[in-house]
Amino acid sequence: MTDIDDIFERAATGKSLLKNRQTLTIDYVPEKLPFRDQESRTLAQSLSSVFKGTRPSNLLLFGKPGTGKTAVVKNIVEHLIAKAKERNIEVIVPIINAKTANTAYKVLYEIAETMGINREDKKVHFTGLSIGEATDRILQFIQKRNLHVIMVIDEIDSLVDKNGDNVLYSFTRANERMTKGGFISLIGISNSLTFKDKLDPRVRSSLSEEETVFNPYTVEQLRQILLERSKLAFNDGAISEAIINLCAAMSGREHGDARKAIDLLRIAAELAERDHSSSVDEKHVRAAQEKMEKDNNLEVIKNATTHTKFVILAITKSKNGNTGDVYEIYSALCKDAEETPLTQRRVTQIISELDQLGIVSTDVISQGRYGRSQKIKITVPINTVYEALGKDFIDR
Ligand SMILES: Nc1ncnc2c1ncn2[C@@H]1O[C@H](COP(=O)(O)OP(=O)(O)OP(=O)(O)O)[C@@H](O)[C@H]1O
Ligand SMILES: [Mg+2]
Repeated sequence: MTDIDDIFERAATGKSLLKNRQTLTIDYVPEKLPFRDQESRTLAQSLSSVFKGTRPSNLLLFGKPGTGKTAVVKNIVEHLIAKAKERNIEVIVPIINAKTANTAYKVLYEIAETMGINREDKKVHFTGLSIGEATDRILQFIQKRNLHVIMVIDEIDSLVDKNGDNVLYSFTRANERMTKGGFISLIGISNSLTFKDKLDPRVRSSLSEEETVFNPYTVEQLRQILLERSKLAFNDGAISEAIINLCAAMSGREHGDARKAIDLLRIAAELAERDHSSSVDEKHVRAAQEKMEKDNNLEVIKNATTHTKFVILAITKSKNGNTGDVYEIYSALCKDAEETPLTQRRVTQIISELDQLGIVSTDVISQGRYGRSQKIKITVPINTVYEALGKDFIDR
């Protein structure tokens, strides 16, 4: 039990690395968001019409993962609500995550919950209504009470992927029916830049009355974000600037994703604590990076379609890794499983998707006068692949 005692001892004597672990978790939204002043101001400007009693434009926010979209919106909404309270202005801002509330019905239910429909109007139950009826009830509620509603739908692409854009259509059109001063504005947040293409043109034009794009952070920006965050999170001397620079460089190299950068810092800190180290060192950062890559690869492979899994397995079984060989092995695996193989063209596409995800590499190899051929290789450690596919899948 000495380990355990150590942990307690260090916590009790204040010698733990972290003084505020919570500031490194995903739910934490810092009060200040450096490098997002302009985006924050644009959003605030747009929402400020509620103080004049007019409807803010519908708004779409785009940007790659971890670029601060959710954080900026939460921050501005908080300020908006505080100011509205101070001024005795009623504005309701449901913030719905369409990935968690993963059906149109759940999205509507959560909106209804935030607006208090279910509580106020106990006689009519929300449960059991069709999507259309549920939407109508929400809109009637807003209309009857002349409410000012700003509805934030985060990860809006997953709502549209699964349920189409009917619900969005109803919401964007609702204002035409509200003649007595109530309104509803929509803020959609998406990390897919092609999201708009999925929308019906009518929904597209009304949903994107205004648009803001969030760009990935540069390494230098990540460095400053991490530096600020580490002041909140770490005890003095527990992490050096050099280590923070390393974290920024490692996570900035590919994505400019602040979430990944902060995750890296947190996991490195956890590994250092487990090591009973008095500070976070380079080896902890490297191990944290490896762990994140592994977890990510596991996730990607586990969630792949069956055919993609067959392709991955075929690549691991192929001796020379050329396209023809991989396709042959893949087809044989399909036949064994009584599945119809996809075309070679589609399989080539899958391979290039896997290449982009960093699961496989495809090198073109010159074979002298015999021309050139492709060599496909798995870049993820083979044990990770096996772990992700599962024994049953491999031994089928
Ligand atoms: N400018 C910033 N300063 C400090 N922290 C930031 C900044 N931008 C983002 N973060 C932090 O990075 C993490 C990811 O940000 P956020 O959740 O807002 O990303 P996102 O753009 O919504 O990504 P996704 O598209 O994946 O939802 C959060 O922990 C957030 O607090
Ligand atoms: Mg987000």
